[in-house]
Amino acid sequence: MDFTRTVLARRMIRAFKPNPVPREKLKRILSLAQHYPSAGYSQEVTYVVITNKEKREKVRKLRDLRSDAPVLLIPCVSENIVHDRYREPDKIRSGGKEIDWPIPFWYFDVGCSCMLIFLAAVNEGLAAGFAGSVGIFNPGLLRKELGIPEHYEPVGVLSLGYPDFGKDIPSPSLKRGRRSLKDFIHREEW
Ligand SMILES: Cc1cc2nc3c(=O)[nH]c(=O)nc-3n(C[C@H](O)[C@H](O)[C@H](O)COP(=O)(O)O)c2cc1C
Repeated sequence: MDFTRTVLARRMIRAFKPNPVPREKLKRILSLAQHYPSAGYSQEVTYVVITNKEKREKVRKLRDLRSDAPVLLIPCVSENIVHDRYREPDKIRSGGKEIDWPIPFWYFDVGCSCMLIFLAAVNEGLAAGFAGSVGIFNPGLLRKELGIPEHYEPVGVLSLGYPDFGKDIPSPSLKRGRRSLKDFIHREEW
């Protein structure tokens, strides 16, 4: 699909058809998701991919998910990997100190990768959504259930599948409307 149309067609989808996602489609989406930019090319993002029905059910319960997508993707990010990378000779500052980290780049990087999932899904005729935090979000519970190592933080749950537009209820937040381009962009200065 043409890039502009792909971007404009992307929506956070909350209702999915039960049809499974073909393996090849899933593989292509995940391969593209690996092309996210990362600070120092740390590559600190990884995914747990869940298609097993019982496993999905468990994660849905933990996250209080309403949608029953055939694929759940858990993006996980390791802050440690970035710190280790920024202690390497080409990144370390004089005095042997890491940079001050005014911005946690690892969250920037995982967001970039998730956006690739959202767009790649549309490109494959599928849709995805970031789990609404209807209930509590306890990364520790997800980590335990899925055996995620301690230094990786699961940042949420992405649902992936064929969209069921008949059942999908768009977010009431959309009523807020999109801010004007004028407010979005500050030319030359704020
Ligand atoms: C970090 C993040 C958290 C979100 N949390 C929720 C949520 O808890 N419940 C929900 O229904 N949608 C959630 N959304 C989806 C937003 O409501 C949605 O992206 C926004 O309304 C714009 O709609 P669109 O993505 O379909 O263009 C979340 C999106 C992001 C990026």
